[in-house]
Amino acid sequence: MTEIDLAELIRDVPDFPSAGIVFKDVMPLLADPAAFRETIDRLAAWAGPRTPDIILGAEARGFIFGGALAYALGCGFVAARKPGKLPWKTVEATYALEYGTDSLQVHADAVAEGTRVIVLDDVLATGGTAKAKVDLVEQLGGTVVGALFVIELTFLHGRERLSGYDVHALIAV
Ligand code: PRP
Repeated sequence: MTEIDLAELIRDVPDFPSAGIVFKDVMPLLADPAAFRETIDRLAAWAGPRTPDIILGAEARGFIFGGALAYALGCGFVAARKPGKLPWKTVEATYALEYGTDSLQVHADAVAEGTRVIVLDDVLATGGTAKAKVDLVEQLGGTVVGALFVIELTFLHGRERLSGYDVHALIAV
């Protein structure tokens, strides 16, 4: 069976969300039944042997890929959210943006001590979001057994922020 060229279904949107940024839009890939299924199958092929208990994804697109991946693997899903969105007690990690900082939170009981976690997102850019998710897992005593992405923007060197972790992307641009 021939592999679908997933990269063809990722749309470049110049100057979004601000001038000079070329946004990687995964909506065409998500809307294509065969490509979405193959994306999840390929994420699962990498993640499965690492035997995660939980997939941890951040809003917004990390929820879509992460939920489907957790279902495919038969493991749990934990949502990392922007501050103020989660209803119960939380822990927080702050990360640098180009200008200023942002934060992510998870519920304080979302990752039990010793839980094996794969952090997942659609895009690895500077690595700030992924590193914050790693910090959240480790604050709660979990073990990060992988950092997994659909797309890696190699020119932003996000992998360097994740040195020492097992990092994989389906597509590198
Ligand atoms: C994008 C993407 C990742 C993050 C990667 O999210 O979905 O979560 O940026 O960038 P980084 O590696 O430089 O941290 P975005 O900021 O667009 O948020 P959204 O998913 O809530 O729209």
